[in-house]
Amino acid sequence: MARVVTVGYCLLVFFGNGIVLAASSGQQLRPGEATETHSCNHVRHPPAELSDPQVMRPNGENITFYQKYTEAYGIPILGSSNVTDDALKRACYTVRYLFAGHSGIRAMFYKFGGRFAIMSATEVTLDFPEFSSWDPFWNSRARGLGASWTTPLTTGAEENLLCQRNDRYHPEDIFLHESAHAVDLIGAWAAIPGFRPAVNNAFRHANVTGLWDNTYAATNALEYWAEGVQSYFNVNTKGPSGGNGIHNDIATRDKLRDYDPTLFKLIQEAFPCKNTYLKRCESTREMENNEVLQMNCNSDDHSYRMRVLAILSAKDPSCQDTRPLDCLHWSLSGECENNPGYMLGNCKASCKVCSPSNCYDENDNCPGWSRSGECEKNPAYMLWNCRLSCRQCTRTTADPLVG
Ligand SMILES: *[C@@H]1O[C@H](CO)[C@@H](O)[C@H](O)[C@H]1NC(C)=O
Ligand SMILES: *[C@@H]1O[C@H](CO)[C@@H](O)[C@H](O)[C@H]1NC(C)=O
Ligand SMILES: *[C@@H]1O[C@H](CO)[C@@H](O)[C@H](O)[C@H]1NC(C)=O
Repeated sequence: MARVVTVGYCLLVFFGNGIVLAASSGQQLRPGEATETHSCNHVRHPPAELSDPQVMRPNGENITFYQKYTEAYGIPILGSSNVTDDALKRACYTVRYLFAGHSGIRAMFYKFGGRFAIMSATEVTLDFPEFSSWDPFWNSRARGLGASWTTPLTTGAEENLLCQRNDRYHPEDIFLHESAHAVDLIGAWAAIPGFRPAVNNAFRHANVTGLWDNTYAATNALEYWAEGVQSYFNVNTKGPSGGNGIHNDIATRDKLRDYDPTLFKLIQEAFPCKNTYLKRCESTREMENNEVLQMNCNSDDHSYRMRVLAILSAKDPSCQDTRPLDCLHWSLSGECENNPGYMLGNCKASCKVCSPSNCYDENDNCPGWSRSGECEKNPAYMLWNCRLSCRQCTRTTADPLVG
């Protein structure tokens, strides 16, 4: 029995169109910031701001279809009038839960227009305005899809969220699986330095050693991540030792910790708080609403996020990376300096060759260091890494830097 929650499709959209990402993303960051609160228990009509194309990336959507709305941290959870309030509330709980722990992932997910939508048991994928032009194949293929960079919408199905008998994936929390993709592709890669390469490396190693042979996690690095997250939160299905094509016997956090410590550690980084996930078949909306979640257990890398945002919002068309994600990661591992021949031509944005998108501090301590005279005492580091605080941004107009 083939499992039908693949987001292999997202791999193509996300990485294949990497150039589109940089070339067209200039105006695509959502205005405002993620909040630290939620109103999961309050389902209402979607607010008018959701018709703003900057909020509903990529093009804005005809949101007439969406008649119901709730939110966690400002992240929308949407549905048509056919979806029950209960389903939206349950989805909102999962979102609230998954995004509680890491302030950076939450911040980036919001900025990139990440959102969720739920279909009723009688609705299908192409009913969502974001997917209306997709191949109808997806209507029978999927009861939930992970987000892609171009369409940062993650979908779920009411029957799965509410643990109903008509659910073809009854034993599994499919919405959590799809949301794990969203955390990865719309949040973590841009919030945790080196996150995506680390997941890819862990997967390559697991593949070489046959760790997940004969399971869905062996499909690719994306499914490896999402299946791992499901096991980490104890909502995966246990299969036989050695696998049955979909699952093996590693289906819980305790098993995963010993079996694949590398993946385990990466998952912990993205979900650093020790909150208890209330399982969908054992929980009520009241229990979920009453649960107090610990938040922001991450060590925040604010300057990394600022750098990612600066690169993505570079508006100068002559200042683009030809391979945005690769360039970003290469630049962060010192390649602009080590390999300038290639990098300064092909990774202009990431190597900060152009201005003014390169005008920011690399380190949160820059303003303080600058005030205590470090721009003058330690120019080799400071004039590059603390450009804003050391007033290097307008250097071309002969800004009179002291010293
Ligand atoms: C938006 O979609 C609704 C149906 O969902 C349709 O009646 C309406 O005409 C559409 N509006 C625009 C501006 O396309
Ligand atoms: C959704 O609800 C509307 C209005 O009640 C109804 O006309 C429509 O058939 C429903 N659609 C689906 C797919 O359930
Ligand atoms: C796993 O490794 C094998 C052997 O190196 C390779 O042929 C295969 O493409 C890899 N699988 C994936 C999904 O990367």
